[in-house]
Amino acid sequence: MFKNFPLFPEQASSLAGDVDALYFFLIAVSGFFAVLISIAIIIFAVKYRRQKPDQVGASIHGSTALEVAWSVVPLVIVLFIFGWSASVYLAISRPPRGAMDIYVVGKQWMWKIQHPEGRREINELHVPVGRPIRLTMGSEDVIHSFFVPAFRVKADVVPGRFTTLWFQATKPGRYHLFCTEYCGAQHSGMIGWIEVMEPAAFQAWLAGGAGEGTLASSGEKLFQELACSTCHRPDSQGRGPVLDGLFGKTVELQGGGTVVADESYIRESIVNPQARILAGYQPLMPTFQGLISEEGLLQLVAYVKSLAAKPGATQPAAEGKK
Ligand code: CUA
Repeated sequence: MFKNFPLFPEQASSLAGDVDALYFFLIAVSGFFAVLISIAIIIFAVKYRRQKPDQVGASIHGSTALEVAWSVVPLVIVLFIFGWSASVYLAISRPPRGAMDIYVVGKQWMWKIQHPEGRREINELHVPVGRPIRLTMGSEDVIHSFFVPAFRVKADVVPGRFTTLWFQATKPGRYHLFCTEYCGAQHSGMIGWIEVMEPAAFQAWLAGGAGEGTLASSGEKLFQELACSTCHRPDSQGRGPVLDGLFGKTVELQGGGTVVADESYIRESIVNPQARILAGYQPLMPTFQGLISEEGLLQLVAYVKSLAAKPGATQPAAEGKK
């Protein structure tokens, strides 16, 4: 629709149309009232101007009908805008179930991408068309922001935590990727491309990276190297929680409360293990803050995630019989 209108990038994701519709509605409402008020100012200025030196304006003491009208009409309009934007916002912020996971690290000044199957790329992201993609993103240094105009999605990439972003590309092609948070001298060069491919072509591309090992297997290697395996053993004889089957579960914490063992919780437990300890365990684990690169953290998270498939033999969480 906006192909020949260079102010707008292509609409290439499932949500782009919704975002644009809302945007144009806001423009239209603003434009309508800007024009209405400007015309009223001109008409009133002409019509009620002082025509003789002794003219004095009539004294007016309010109009209930008018005041109710100018309160209620804007209220209805802004509530409508609120409802509409909230629904678009929720759609953008909640990745659908079964989305494909890809991991992103921002650093001065490049985007490093890791696919769970093992392929890595820099300043390029290959994805299949028509599948929801969920990005888990971390930063190695300062705040960056991952922005794909054609998909109408953007999210900050913040040191010390994971942020997520999802999209579903609707047509094959090459789309600009930008960093939209000023991050130092070469911020403007921190750009790249999203390559949206037909599913078969994507599978072929993905297979082309054979030999690098999957993300989870890199994580497993790291897990052994860092000696995590001495405490986190699969047989509940270790001093740390059993990780098999842990990911995605709601677990109980020391001192009450629960947490979903998601990417962010696993990350926190590695860099700041004392923050939220699983019920029944001692605060023995040292921090790994600064000892593992952001990519390494993503690999470890992918490894722990891969263990979710295994049945957690000794998990305290009561699982009903299947
Ligand atoms: Cu990274 Cu700007």
